[in-house]
Amino acid sequence: MAKVDLRSFLDGLGSDLLRLQESVSPRHEVAAVLKQTQNSGRAVLFEQVAGFPGVRIVGNLLSSRGLAARALGTDEAHLIETYVAKSVQGIAPVAAREVPVQEVVHRQPADVAALLPLMTHHEKDAAPFLTCGMVLARDPLSGMRGMGIHRMMFKGGRRFGILLANPPLTQYLANAEKQGKPLDIAVALGVDPAMFLASVVKTGPLGPDKMDIAGSLRGAPVELTRALTVDVEVPARAEVIIEGHVLPGVREAEGPFGENTGAYFTNNSPVIEVTAVTHRKDYIFPALCPWTTEIDTLLSLAGGAELLGQLKALVRGVVDLELVPGTCSFAAVIAVKDCPPHEVRRLIHLALTLDRRLKVLTVVDDDVDIRDPREVSWAMSTRFQPVRDTVILGGMEGYIIDPSAGGGGSGSKIGFDATRGAGDAFDKIAIPAAAVARAKAVLDAAHK
Ligand SMILES: Cc1cc2nc3c(=O)[nH]c(=O)nc-3n(C[C@H](O)[C@H](O)[C@H](O)COP(=O)(O)O)c2cc1C
Repeated sequence: MAKVDLRSFLDGLGSDLLRLQESVSPRHEVAAVLKQTQNSGRAVLFEQVAGFPGVRIVGNLLSSRGLAARALGTDEAHLIETYVAKSVQGIAPVAAREVPVQEVVHRQPADVAALLPLMTHHEKDAAPFLTCGMVLARDPLSGMRGMGIHRMMFKGGRRFGILLANPPLTQYLANAEKQGKPLDIAVALGVDPAMFLASVVKTGPLGPDKMDIAGSLRGAPVELTRALTVDVEVPARAEVIIEGHVLPGVREAEGPFGENTGAYFTNNSPVIEVTAVTHRKDYIFPALCPWTTEIDTLLSLAGGAELLGQLKALVRGVVDLELVPGTCSFAAVIAVKDCPPHEVRRLIHLALTLDRRLKVLTVVDDDVDIRDPREVSWAMSTRFQPVRDTVILGGMEGYIIDPSAGGGGSGSKIGFDATRGAGDAFDKIAIPAAAVARAKAVLDAAHK
């Protein structure tokens, strides 16, 4: 069986992997490099990490659609359809024959920061944070597996704070706490990017198992093994595993942390006590810098592609959807074809209620390029009448990390119908196709 893991992905990148030989510090410097290279279309491998001889850090793994396509074994043109097709298939995990992630074992470590290059990202972050830990746990009631990305703040020694704001892990912790018990968890770091993506796919309370989705996204079953100190199965080919339990009934300050919203967020969050750290001998540590193109890619696949599928099934005329980059998927643009105004209104209500994160939605006709802010602003300026074409929904669930929602509770949402409605008067000006083709030929010749 082909070995699929972070290393096999990196091996296949060739010139799409930028290798940096200069030593960089996990404190701010790694994040600064990732931010400056986020639009390069390349992943970055830091070959020298200050204070951690022999350890490498890798980041920007999904910073472009091209890299995401590679992770799913396709090309950019087929990325969305491949993702949608694979995410509903499922390949079940298998028992691992070899377990590289347990080559080195530290039980009850005195100081996790001495073992791993925990990174500090932004200026006012309260401490180093793990931003790309794939957190795994089992529901103490049903035994179901759950996994998701959850930020973790290093609190010294072997304690971390963990932001548990989303199901299923919030529910698993509530179930454990009702029994007065800790929740066993394992945090996988340095998995292949398809598995990482699977961990944030929306699945709903009854599954399917995200390990099955991981299997089909990467085209090979995930090899699992038992963690050493907790009752959780972990990917045997990860680079690092942190094992531990979430302490029942404990909540402590966690943050401030520069979030994927581009703003700092502080919370009163549960606390993890680490029971073991295991890793490969020469492990590669993963980095994910908040509020970068990598976040946009993750959200556009794990959130946007799914929402588009749902809306296409519910409203005739839905053509395409773009989550606006840099907005943590709070803002989106949808293109429609031949959709009458009452249908656009229904679409706006459906989209804003189906997606918990989505807050600002603009609907345009399909002659508008939804990935070009100039075109979307043009539609808003010429086809949109504020009194006639705005939908505001109050009393909605607010997203906890949205700084304008005041830390959770209720929020409001807004939709703009920037379609032309009916009538030729709203046609966009255009140059005849033959002249456009001629211009292209002339310019291509000039560039030769
Ligand atoms: C980059 C990224 C970071 C995330 N960080 C957190 C986090 O710190 N805490 C949390 O509860 N959920 C976080 N999530 C969401 C969960 O992983 C969530 O379970 C997953 O996205 C499933 O979708 P849902 O939000 O609809 O439940 C994050 C998602 C992404 C894409």
